[in-house]
Amino acid sequence: MSEINKTHAQWSNRFAYILAATGAAVGLGNIWKFPYIMGENGGGAFVLVYLFCIAIVGIPVMIAEVYLGKSGRLSPMRAVAEVAKRYSASKAWKFAGAMGVVAGYLILSFYAVIAGWACAYILETAGGQFEQASAEQIKLSFNQLISSPASLIGWTSFMLIITAAVVAKGLQDGLEKCVRYMMPAMFVLLLVIAGYSASYGDFSQAVSFMFAPDFSKLTIHSVLEALGHSFFTLSLASGVMIMYGAYLPDNTSIVKTSIWIAIADTMVALLAGLAIFPIVFGNGLEPSAGPGLIFETLPLAFGQMPGGQFIGTVFFVMLVFAAFTSAIALIESSVAWLIEKKGFSRVAAAAFSGAGLWLLSLLTIFSFTGADWATVNVFSVDTNFFGVLDTLTSNVLLPLGGLLIAIFVGWVVKQEDLADELKLSSATFSTCVVLLKYVTPLIVFIVFLYLTGIFKF
Ligand code: PFF
Repeated sequence: MSEINKTHAQWSNRFAYILAATGAAVGLGNIWKFPYIMGENGGGAFVLVYLFCIAIVGIPVMIAEVYLGKSGRLSPMRAVAEVAKRYSASKAWKFAGAMGVVAGYLILSFYAVIAGWACAYILETAGGQFEQASAEQIKLSFNQLISSPASLIGWTSFMLIITAAVVAKGLQDGLEKCVRYMMPAMFVLLLVIAGYSASYGDFSQAVSFMFAPDFSKLTIHSVLEALGHSFFTLSLASGVMIMYGAYLPDNTSIVKTSIWIAIADTMVALLAGLAIFPIVFGNGLEPSAGPGLIFETLPLAFGQMPGGQFIGTVFFVMLVFAAFTSAIALIESSVAWLIEKKGFSRVAAAAFSGAGLWLLSLLTIFSFTGADWATVNVFSVDTNFFGVLDTLTSNVLLPLGGLLIAIFVGWVVKQEDLADELKLSSATFSTCVVLLKYVTPLIVFIVFLYLTGIFKF
């Protein structure tokens, strides 16, 4: 492999990396998905299991991915191939990296559509559309949005164009500059909303819902859902952490930064819960409303509360910032691959990758609008392309990718090399290796069997 093909760009410093990787991790998963799956799975007990999964599975896999990126210094597929070659392991390991890039790409094709809904909601909330609106009116306007191809294509194109434009500007001038402003802004906006919720909503009921565990509500399904979500929320197995690791400055601790990123991601998810549930309870609404929680339930509350029009607008701006810093991370691995392997300029690579995503996003868009051609039958189940993409990525590619990465770093990479890089005390290092070699693969394997339906409880 020629040196020219190596990825030389690096984050300007450790803090820039932490902001970028936290930006990649914090997204719709934290603010849209976490609160509603917590709501559906009974609250506090689910939160405890989720925290446990982040610590036992999420952090070790993140360490493994960043390690691979840093030691390969290339886009995910090529970084894994490079490390495999070093240990004379099979070339086929590169597919573990490739699978991540494909998963990330597919995820972004529907992620951009949902982020587009949030963009549309900024205007709707700011324009006062939800003021004193009834639940039926809000439901109707949500259904109108998701069944209008023109609106969906417009908003998705907007998201994809700015995502590609930022990435086209390069690592330090594009991605890094963007997270430097957006992440602190997102965090401040979230705090403002949580403060508002605490004063106008039912804060104590929200706190007891989120933190008083009721284990009778916990099912095996909730446990597996918590595990699956720990992968999604930390952006694991989607090429993102290997790619961002490839840009890690030389003297940055992989372990410490991974722990910080996981803590920041978890804090945002919990804060999002503390921002949303007091409003939900304060207005006598249902916490288990499912995916419509922030697009149907919350606007109802914003429409009734003092200052709701303003705080609702702030909420959706914050959501778009969070989604955007994940979108740039999800597109970066494909862009880096086109530059390294196909010799594209960065601008051409971003445009090409963005155009491919735009085409793919039509599958999701027309699934929502209910187009006949987007309805498919998979294993005798009627679904649509969005259902296929969501299930394929969250239930198959992410767990399988995580499993392979843990096995690769746990079993193929020489332990002395890993120890040299991680610089941990011997007890902590052994714990980390045991987690990567045995615990993570076993747990993820069980989740994989369950999610793919091979295993039924
Ligand atoms: N982690 C981000 C979120 O929680 O929204 C985005 C994301 C990245 C999701 C990568 C899934 C993924 F594989």
